[in-house]
Amino acid sequence: MSRVGIGRSLRRLAALGTALAAGYLLLLEPHRLRVEQRSVLLPDLPAEADGCRVALISDLHVGMGLHRHGHIRRAVQAVIRARPHLVLIAGDITHKGRWSGGPLLAPLAATAPVMAVLGNHDHLAGPAATSALVQTLTAQGVRVLSNEHVPCGIPGLPWLVVGVDDWVTGHTDLAAAVTGIAPHTKLLALLTHVPDVAGHVPRHWFPLILAGHTHGMRFRFGPLALIPWLGRHARVIRSRYPRGFYHANGSLLYVTRGVGMSEAPVRAGSLPEVTILTLTRS
Ligand SMILES: [Fe+2]
Repeated sequence: MSRVGIGRSLRRLAALGTALAAGYLLLLEPHRLRVEQRSVLLPDLPAEADGCRVALISDLHVGMGLHRHGHIRRAVQAVIRARPHLVLIAGDITHKGRWSGGPLLAPLAATAPVMAVLGNHDHLAGPAATSALVQTLTAQGVRVLSNEHVPCGIPGLPWLVVGVDDWVTGHTDLAAAVTGIAPHTKLLALLTHVPDVAGHVPRHWFPLILAGHTHGMRFRFGPLALIPWLGRHARVIRSRYPRGFYHANGSLLYVTRGVGMSEAPVRAGSLPEVTILTLTRS
């Protein structure tokens, strides 16, 4: 084969590789789902709660154009199959603030107590739409925690879950969320959409901080970030804590990669995730 012929073959190979990679990032990876099983050691956990499971999902982005409800339904079914004692949803439940999912989340409430906080997308349509969203979620059995606390609902575990509203849109009020908690009351977790809230809580207040928002993106989009809408998305989801476990301010922080997609309809090395945390006495 001539040198010209070899060059042409290499270019075709490169084009094919690029097309396959783009196809995987756009069409395959966002529609896969991995159930991540993690143990969480809690020193003071009562024996009755040893082995209890907390399911964490986030960033469903219900209403995202390219993302069908079937994917979210599969995530809901994965949660139910894990037989959790508590389900937590860490925000960005909708894409741009309006619910279009019908009774998509109602099956969760038939399984366990379900608590949620709102994310930046849940505020994008304005306060009236956010109120309507909270009403819709409440009707499906989802308790939305807007800077407040409630008992975690796990049998034998009288600890509280504290939920803060979204940080990116300026709705987080940790002081309001903990107001009224009696001294020496045990806390199980702080639920927040944005993980960086962990850098702003008093040390050792929360054994667990659970978050989403980042879509697990260690990947910074590289040169793709020069495309304005992709670059904007990359800046919004940037975090010191992109995915997995961290020690932050004396708390154990877990950041889930989430279920859905938002402005950038791609995932790269960041499979959609349902997290099952098993509480373990240490
Ligand atoms: Fe978000």
